[in-house]
Amino acid sequence: MSTSGSRRKPPKCVIADLGEYTKSLSNEVVIFYMREVYMLKRPRRNRKNDGMRSLCQETLLSPKDLIMPFFVVSGKGRKEPIPSLPGVFKWSKDELVKEAALLHAKGVPAILIFPAEAKKDLNGSYALSPEEAIPEAISFIKKEIPSLQILCDVALDPYTSHGHDGIVDSSGYVLNDATVAILQKMALLYAEVGADCIAPSDMMDGRIGAIRRALDEKKYTEVGILSYTAKYASSLYGPFREALGSQLQFGDKKSYQMDPRNVREALREMALDEEEGADILMVKPALFYLDVIAKMRQATKLPICAYHVSGEYSMVMAAAEKGYLDAERTFLEALISIKRAGADCMVSYAVPRILSML
Ligand code: PBG
Repeated sequence: MSTSGSRRKPPKCVIADLGEYTKSLSNEVVIFYMREVYMLKRPRRNRKNDGMRSLCQETLLSPKDLIMPFFVVSGKGRKEPIPSLPGVFKWSKDELVKEAALLHAKGVPAILIFPAEAKKDLNGSYALSPEEAIPEAISFIKKEIPSLQILCDVALDPYTSHGHDGIVDSSGYVLNDATVAILQKMALLYAEVGADCIAPSDMMDGRIGAIRRALDEKKYTEVGILSYTAKYASSLYGPFREALGSQLQFGDKKSYQMDPRNVREALREMALDEEEGADILMVKPALFYLDVIAKMRQATKLPICAYHVSGEYSMVMAAAEKGYLDAERTFLEALISIKRAGADCMVSYAVPRILSML
């Protein structure tokens, strides 16, 4: 029987009973066979070879489930490495289109875009500038690859000098409603240039309803909202913040992002996002929060997306660099686990690494 995965040849097999086994305890390879064991049910029958395993597989990961995140910079001809995310790059829109077209040809339906070198000020005002890299990239990509779905992250942190996702008051507290008003304008700017879906990642209260209303008032009724519903205040965003230069200058994000100790709170956020008109719900990060994905799966009919975040990617790359594990196989297992937990689709920096294995 073939044991796929082993590198060396399987040993020579001899069937023996107990007496012969003790006699031949030498270098000779013997399969120990206990005739008296009888089992009606043997789960291994369903795992005995590739054919049986594929008949019995419960989870199918497809390129169609995958969303590739891209870091966008201005200019032309730029494809620059990001030290905290080995194998991930910052792209100018012309280079990005070439890479996105390759992934799209292999079945990947969507990309999620972030600005990597945005201009920053105290109130994040460049977030509303049509000359920044993101709005320019959206209209360019949409023209070049119309069928590729462009999902666009909406939050202020790439544009604020302090790295928070909103307007801060003099005590350092992130103001909710003032921030939501800007997010509405940002969403409109991206809808105008052709984004298919707006993805608010800020965790302000009421922003889904506010963005939905703003889009509908301007007749962008077909532009969707992928809500970062359960976005946790996680230590796994480090490599991403390094890529954007959005490291926090003070405080932390715990007054808006969720407490990793909570799961009922995720269901509460979910109920609100549903009422406010979200089209897809996101859990982020993914692997430490598979229970959240599974519980939300039970409680909603909306599609669930998971974000396999920068720290989840870079941990595996660092271990692989040391030779502790195989990056590609680990990523495949990670993404299958996310699907198995109940996610319909997922964002991952590992998309290009695992496509050939699907
Ligand atoms: C910002 C945002 C973050 C990520 C996506 N959007 C970072 C943060 O909240 O600090 C993290 C993504 C990743 O780590 O891959 N609103």
